[in-house]
Amino acid sequence: MNIQWYPGHMTKARRMMEENIKLVDLIIEILDARIPYSSRNPDIGEMGKQKARIILLNKSDLADPSSNEKWAEYYKAQGASVLFCDARSAVTLKQLQGLVKQACQEKIERDRKKGIINRPLRAMVAGIPNVGKSTFINSFAGKAVAQTGNKPGVTRGKQWIRIRQELELLDTPGILWPRFDDQAVGLRLALSGSVKDEVVSEDDLCEYLLGLMTTRYPGMIAERYGIDENGTLAEVLTAVAKARGCLLKAGEPDLSRAAKLMIDDFRSGRLGKITLELPTDIPEKQDKKEKK
Ligand code: G4P
Repeated sequence: MNIQWYPGHMTKARRMMEENIKLVDLIIEILDARIPYSSRNPDIGEMGKQKARIILLNKSDLADPSSNEKWAEYYKAQGASVLFCDARSAVTLKQLQGLVKQACQEKIERDRKKGIINRPLRAMVAGIPNVGKSTFINSFAGKAVAQTGNKPGVTRGKQWIRIRQELELLDTPGILWPRFDDQAVGLRLALSGSVKDEVVSEDDLCEYLLGLMTTRYPGMIAERYGIDENGTLAEVLTAVAKARGCLLKAGEPDLSRAAKLMIDDFRSGRLGKITLELPTDIPEKQDKKEKK
């Protein structure tokens, strides 16, 4: 799903998020492991500051394992609970349940003192479009779904999914808006498929990808396509087009098709496990804000 964010949309999404946050003990914040900073909503810290939070670095199957470690350290240093995840598989389920309890320990203690024991914890899943919220809810709920239904009074109109005895998930994912303050963020969001393709031209996307790949992952493009990767964008695209038979009727290389192919290969992981940004890429001012 792609949403064109304009002020009206953002206001509505913010209002819904603020209402839903009141109903839960915990926010499960989903980030794209290839772009954790760019895929993080800039206001979630403020909106969710009273709640326990778990950061799921999703699509970690597509990201570079050594960068995954750096991001985990970065968020853990801020006191967050972090888990890597491929939302299409249910393997994170067990680990997540442990983390949920840990993250909500204070709440569990408070309830216990009031004599409330074994009340299921309530959580909502939040993230920007396309980061994997629905996929996560479906596989997390999976076979473990014991009960679905409205809770009259407390949560009228809202569906809760019971995950075993201890946890209930709000079944509508909280859709958040991405950052808009930085051009590099826009490029990374577009490359990873979180904003509409039309927003950024294929050439710009491919140029960004090529620059990043040859600097951070030298040799990967050369190996994938059997070409010399150290040229201008036009030279590389020409070589990719020839190597992959992307040709126009007259036999000329079809550079636009070659660019699409490279972008698709990146998005699907065929180019390799690639992370587009590291904690050290966060602008200083934003870094301070993140760490607040
Ligand atoms: P959303 O609710 O946050 O908007 O995201 P959604 O679950 O719809 O997931 C968006 C796309 O990302 C889906 O692909 C989904 O299969 C894929 N996806 C979700 N989690 C993971 C993950 O951990 N690893 C990988 N590799 N893919 C994941 P899609 O249906 O093909 O949609 P699209 O990408 O073609 O838009």
